Amino acid sequence: MDFDTNKRQIRSFVLRGGKMTTGQKKALDELWPVYGIEDKQSLAFPEIFGNENPVWLDIGFGNGESTAFAAAQHPDVNLLGIEVHLPGIGHLLIRMHEQDLNNVRIMRDDAVDVLQTQITDASLDAVHVYFPDPWHKKRHHKRRLLNADFISLVISKLKSGGRLHIATDWEEYALEVQALLIQFADLENTVSDNGFADRPAWRPETKFERRGQRLQHNSYDLILVKR
Ligand SMILES: C[S@@+](CC[C@H](N)C(=O)[O-])C[C@H]1O[C@@H](n2cnc3c(N)ncnc32)[C@H](O)[C@@H]1O
Repeated sequence: MDFDTNKRQIRSFVLRGGKMTTGQKKALDELWPVYGIEDKQSLAFPEIFGNENPVWLDIGFGNGESTAFAAAQHPDVNLLGIEVHLPGIGHLLIRMHEQDLNNVRIMRDDAVDVLQTQITDASLDAVHVYFPDPWHKKRHHKRRLLNADFISLVISKLKSGGRLHIATDWEEYALEVQALLIQFADLENTVSDNGFADRPAWRPETKFERRGQRLQHNSYDLILVKR
């Protein structure tokens, strides 16, 4: 489950150690071989999921709340979750086991690398990026995941009619991304006047969102569709 963190200079995450619970360790030992993807080749979704169902990509899923939630609500959809934080992966594997979710697969990697090298163009039905690290200090803004290169990359991987759904509780980041997205003619905001959307049924309130609420932060959802 190792990956090369030196390939690109600036990454949107810092690998934290993070203590794992016994349950998470057990889940990683027993369930990662079943649901984890270690392949570094181009991903063949019908082989990976065993069906031709639509694929939704959840980038930086944290502890996997949103991935498990969407997978349970939409058994006719395949969820591919990418996260670098190992305890979070263990947490999602436990959830999958408890909820008997077979429509989730997990990769431990930088989602940018995976998108660039392993995901076929026009193969995704949705890309979800929920509460990406805001890197709020100005000198760290270069680490923000949501930038013009990333959006172009995502557009190339979405099917026509596919969805890009971003949520953040960091207002300044939300406004920056809102202004960025309008520059992409291939994306159409599902809300008029390039507005923010209400939280849709497929996205639960996540841990990071609840923490934001305690700090009086609002959540901002942007839901766009590829033309
Ligand atoms: C603030 S957390 C949000 C987690 C979750 N989406 C939620 O809403 O609770 C952001 C997560 O994104 C992950 N992350 C950041 N950049 C990533 C990347 N390039 N590839 C994969 N995961 C990434 C981090 O490890 C972290 O767990």
